[in-house]
Amino acid sequence: MHLFVVCLFSVWGLAAPEHYIVEDICTAKPRDIPVNPICIYRNPEKKPQESEGQEPGKGKLPESTNPRVWELSKANSRFAVVFYKYLADSKDNGENIFMSPLSISTAFAMTKLGACGSTLQQLMEVFQFDTISEKTSDQIHFFFAKLNCRLYKKANKSSELVSANRLFGEKSLVFNETYQNVSEIVYGAKLWPLNFKEKPELSRKIINEWVANKTEKRITEVIPERGIDDLTVLVLVNTIYFKGHWKSQFPAPNTKLDLFHKAHGETCKVPIMYQESKFRHTSLRQDKVQVLELPYKGDDITMVLVLPKAGTPLVEVERHLTSEKLQDWIDSMTEVSLSVYLPRFRVEDSFSVKEKLRKMGLEDLFSPENARLPGIIAEGRTDLYVSEAFHKAFLEVNEEGSEASAATAVTVSGRSFPMNRIIFNANRPFLIFIREAALNTIIFMGRISDPCS
Ligand SMILES: *[C@@H]1O[C@H](CO)[C@@H](O)[C@H](O)[C@H]1NC(C)=O
Ligand SMILES: *[C@@H]1O[C@H](CO)[C@@H](O)[C@H](O)[C@H]1NC(C)=O
Ligand SMILES: *[C@@H]1O[C@H](CO)[C@@H](O)[C@H](O)[C@H]1NC(C)=O
Ligand SMILES: *[C@@H]1O[C@H](CO)[C@@H](O)[C@H](O)[C@H]1NC(C)=O
Repeated sequence: MHLFVVCLFSVWGLAAPEHYIVEDICTAKPRDIPVNPICIYRNPEKKPQESEGQEPGKGKLPESTNPRVWELSKANSRFAVVFYKYLADSKDNGENIFMSPLSISTAFAMTKLGACGSTLQQLMEVFQFDTISEKTSDQIHFFFAKLNCRLYKKANKSSELVSANRLFGEKSLVFNETYQNVSEIVYGAKLWPLNFKEKPELSRKIINEWVANKTEKRITEVIPERGIDDLTVLVLVNTIYFKGHWKSQFPAPNTKLDLFHKAHGETCKVPIMYQESKFRHTSLRQDKVQVLELPYKGDDITMVLVLPKAGTPLVEVERHLTSEKLQDWIDSMTEVSLSVYLPRFRVEDSFSVKEKLRKMGLEDLFSPENARLPGIIAEGRTDLYVSEAFHKAFLEVNEEGSEASAATAVTVSGRSFPMNRIIFNANRPFLIFIREAALNTIIFMGRISDPCS
């Protein structure tokens, strides 16, 4: 019997999104909604843990932030960077990467709630939940829900950050009621019983239609043909959209076709946008990168671009990347006036999350023999495992985001490089992060190696 995890993520817009804010969890205290895991893991050799949410001397708890939410956010960032490296290893340097590490963590934390034994231990280690305090990791779902409350509430003000999630379960089975309740609290949607056993194809169509409905028909066939069979017991769908409008737009007349220098020495032609404005920026000689932050309207969510110095291959930067280093870069940015050249592009990426996570050490969850997920199904069955997990993400970057807006920055068109001005020219492969600025939660992460395709 297998579970089927579909993590489907997309970033872009045009959707008139529904907001999934579970009102009660956003104001609730842990004791109001007991979200206790079935099993608890304690590391015998206890890694250095963060003391009650505050790393001594490092970083300050952002204003009006639950310290446990902050801890969780940091664990997620650690996972994001490690996962990114495994993903990059599996791809050619010339290929784009785009994903939502936050959604992968959220989806798999859902299985942590029902996991025991080494299945649980591996989840704790791979997702870095063992690097935070035990109180936080024991109640991980509660704090994931709180993190989501914070992200989606903030985004509501200006950008659109929307998430739609749901569990679909084989209808003949009795799922653990606590598990179902928790999934409703966290995901804001009840488990939907489907007839996988007798009608796998119809079930697949229903799930795909639900996803299509939730994405304004943008994402259709999320589960491929024969992606569901009569052994499937649970499908977990996890979607995220983001649509932001630049705080400072790129004036359309500035966009010109220009050369982009790809990883293996070839070049291609791509529309390159241009603007001069004040942005947070830093140039790090030792790490051989320039880091630029482009805020979206509202300043809550920003895009961080990491561009290697000319002559430094992106792989070299990737190899040395850690979440701490990224945090240091972000902290060292200062506001300066600069010229920004950025390609207009759209990336779409989809891959199986399973292989990468297995390489990272998450083996038992995917193993029919070794998986231990007693908290998910009520009948005490022990033959449950996760059979597959897919991930799909999109990103579209253009001059304005979407509609025209009054808030345009002071701009000068033209291509001559002004004297004495800092230039950020993303005409070669670079990294992108879309993050929530106060908590530094990495919502999306990727690299643009080929904006022309
Ligand atoms: C459901 O899970 C909870 C913990 O998550 C556990 O305490 C309870 O015994 C389980 N119920 C059944 C019927 O298996
Ligand atoms: C979110 O936006 C909707 C409509 O756009 C509005 O009705 C709602 O009050 C907003 N919520 C918050 C928390 O700002
Ligand atoms: C699940 O939620 C329902 C309705 O909210 C409640 O009546 C029930 O007691 C809950 N069950 C558990 C095991 O928490
Ligand atoms: C999708 O939306 C249509 C129209 O609103 C509705 O009739 C249908 O039941 C929805 N399907 C799913 C699976 O939610």
